[in-house]
Amino acid sequence: MAINTTILLPGDKSISHRAVMLASIADGVSELTNLNDGKDVQSTIKALQACGALIENDDKKLIITGTTLSSPKKPIDCGNSGTSARLLSGFLSSQSLQFSLTGDDSLSSRPMDRVIVPLTQMGCHIESNNGLLPLIVDASGPLNGINYKMPVASAQVKSSILLAGLGAESSSNVSEINTSRNHTEIMLHHMGATITVMDRDIRIEPLSSSLEPITMDIPSDPSSASFFIVLTVLMKESQVTVRNMLLNPTRIGFMNILNKIGIPATISNQHHMNGELCGDVSVESSSVDGFEVSSYAIPSIIDEIPILSVLAAAGKGKTVFNGIEELKFKESNRVQAIIDNLINFGIKAYEQDNSLIVEGGTPTQMPTIQSFDDHRIAMAFVVLSIAVFGEYKLDNKACIDISLPGFFDTIEEMLS
Ligand code: S3P
Repeated sequence: MAINTTILLPGDKSISHRAVMLASIADGVSELTNLNDGKDVQSTIKALQACGALIENDDKKLIITGTTLSSPKKPIDCGNSGTSARLLSGFLSSQSLQFSLTGDDSLSSRPMDRVIVPLTQMGCHIESNNGLLPLIVDASGPLNGINYKMPVASAQVKSSILLAGLGAESSSNVSEINTSRNHTEIMLHHMGATITVMDRDIRIEPLSSSLEPITMDIPSDPSSASFFIVLTVLMKESQVTVRNMLLNPTRIGFMNILNKIGIPATISNQHHMNGELCGDVSVESSSVDGFEVSSYAIPSIIDEIPILSVLAAAGKGKTVFNGIEELKFKESNRVQAIIDNLINFGIKAYEQDNSLIVEGGTPTQMPTIQSFDDHRIAMAFVVLSIAVFGEYKLDNKACIDISLPGFFDTIEEMLS
């Protein structure tokens, strides 16, 4: 079985969340095409609609007419979506609303103190379940600007503060300990907000006039693309082109790794879409060597570590991911989920001194993949199973709908 195909994928999930939020308060009508079609983005859309946002689906286009949001009557269910919960906590606060946020079991066990602490310093009143959901937020009072040094590298936390800062009475400064994805900064700038970025220090001014609406064809999600790219690398005599993929440097750490270990990959048709770099990415099959990732590079591959572990597992030699702590606080404890699944495939993997180590080799058995109800764990190990055994057994297919409902259709299309 060889792959030789071109794919266009649903839009980037991070950009989709941000575009829907910011368009809902812009001064005019925004049009978004190729929005991410997963359940997480739906959680954000439903949350905003519960606050009175005017969002309509017109064929394949989302049309959003900016308006003044109001406090929702019922708690907002963020489902499985950490991005919805963390970004909405700041964004809805900027609109002086009172609201509650809930989530599913996975989201209800993920840390929220990382947004509660700075938002409280800005003047929000927040009750939580010991730093976990549900959150009950009262942002009806004035918000002050903040100078905040972030203790973790997290684009969700950074974005929550920047979004809250739009509604504050003075400017806010956020300092990152490591560079994380910068879509909020790019989009805010593009929509007319006053935002200055100096290396890892970001300063946002309160909005003095409404944001401008946007028209955006959202580029293919690189995190989704990474599954199909690794599948192609592992299959024999194969080639795939991902059209119009997001190439924001904070997101394509996995492409840098492919380059570093000599996997044939080219980028063409580079252009900007609303300040975001995108282009066509072509990758071919290759043998794979082990690699080492520094903790500095982790934010740029944070969602790709499951699939990069699969790449490492099918390769030669040892791979080390340093500084993997944050991976324990994702939709599942991904360090454990990766290790458990790799061991089930007969691959040696373990954690040592805050590093994840994978000893590449040939998987010896085809287990039932344990997804831990985590979309990226499920997709990563389906790729390994198909590449090595031509088939797979998976405990929960439905969780993949969180980010990429068309995953299996695209795999079928690639293998047909
Ligand atoms: C995201 C940021 C990352 C990432 C998540 C999406 C975002 O989380 O893992 O899937 O859209 O801002 P952290 O910022 O918490 O690392």
